[in-house]
Amino acid sequence: MAVKKRAAKWQDFFPVCFKAEKKAETKQQSTSIQRISLLDLSSSTISEELSVSLAASNLHVFTLQELKLITHNFASTNFLGEGGFGPVHKGFIHESLRPGLKAQPVAVKLLDLDGKQGHREWLTEVVFLGELRHANLVKLVGYCCEEEQRLLVYEYMPRGSLENQLFRKMCIPLPWSKRLKIALGAAKGLTFLHESNKPVIYRDFKASNILLDSDFTAKLADLGLARDGPQGDETHISTRVMGTEGYTAPEYIITGHLTSASDIYSFGVVLLELITGRRSLDKSRPNRDQNLVERTRHMLKNPRKLVRVIDPRLEGQYPEIAVQKVAALAYQCLSYRPKLRPTMAEVVRVLEPLKDFDDAQAGTFVFTVSTDSNTVKFFPSETKLEEAKEVELDKVR
Ligand SMILES: Nc1ncnc2c1ncn2[C@@H]1O[C@H](COP(=O)(O)OP(=O)(O)OP(=O)(O)O)[C@@H](O)[C@H]1O
Ligand SMILES: [Mg+2]
Repeated sequence: MAVKKRAAKWQDFFPVCFKAEKKAETKQQSTSIQRISLLDLSSSTISEELSVSLAASNLHVFTLQELKLITHNFASTNFLGEGGFGPVHKGFIHESLRPGLKAQPVAVKLLDLDGKQGHREWLTEVVFLGELRHANLVKLVGYCCEEEQRLLVYEYMPRGSLENQLFRKMCIPLPWSKRLKIALGAAKGLTFLHESNKPVIYRDFKASNILLDSDFTAKLADLGLARDGPQGDETHISTRVMGTEGYTAPEYIITGHLTSASDIYSFGVVLLELITGRRSLDKSRPNRDQNLVERTRHMLKNPRKLVRVIDPRLEGQYPEIAVQKVAALAYQCLSYRPKLRPTMAEVVRVLEPLKDFDDAQAGTFVFTVSTDSNTVKFFPSETKLEEAKEVELDKVR
């Protein structure tokens, strides 16, 4: 695929890209430089700070020629998919490409110059992912900024996105234990963003932005819409409403007031997708059935109704009580009152004890749930009644 050329559109923005490589070489020693605020991006003086910040993050600055080389000129055989930013191609970095950069597969995202996103989204991604490192955030290896071309180079995630794994008809259905592992990983990634020194609101939490490693470790990608959270006495930040239909919190759509609770709503939508195997918005369904939250939210706290919406592709292979707990958690995340939603740290605390479920043994275990904690206990079927009774008795003794 040929890389498109077009007259420059970003004269307002900083000229740092053209100097970045040189600075990256000379400023590698810098440590603990604060992430710059994206509010400052329009300032011309920020260029220096930005390049220093990026240099400290150890991102590699690639040339377009290098990225053409590693993707075989963006060959269609290396095409992974395309979203709002532009096409994504698989590439392979050989050791010989650069000293100090290990051989590895990567995903190269190329800005579509005729698309809706642009320099600002590219820059937001570079600034946030350059600074923030966590096991549940996709790693940005580097970037390229040549003339009007903008590219991002990520670690390659062999299982693609949760969206592909969950909704593609040709894929083997994701077993319950994997769904929970993914929910927990994504929750940890979001907790990290919300609780970092300078909290970040992700703003685009959805199944296609959760990428999966070979062992189904979930990593959040695409911080192009992320924003620094409210500071000091601020309760929210006011922004143009951005995000993805079907995932966006209702109060944010109505008021434009963004808080971390908006991300938690979106997290609730993804939990609902994991439980039901249905897309948050499915335009192929009849009108009244298109919006997953509207259609199923009222069923989440009622076990008899819940069973009607659990993904049939699971074929009953799931721990009933754990699914009920996840559904109750989704219900809370989807509360219309943001203050009633749990924090992401609380979400992690609820999900953590539910994760140890062996799909192969579904049906041979019963579960007892302590009502005063979030602990789910598993008992082999032979001893189920006695042991379950003992545990319940212990509580009242
Ligand atoms: N690091 C990566 N490793 C492997 N595949 C990736 C990687 N990043 C993106 N992809 C794949 O590329 C495709 C496009 O991803 P992209 O994030 O650009 O779009 P999207 O998430 O589908 O839409 P949106 O623009 O709304 O985020 C997805 O199908 C995803 O699976
Ligand atoms: Mg994406």
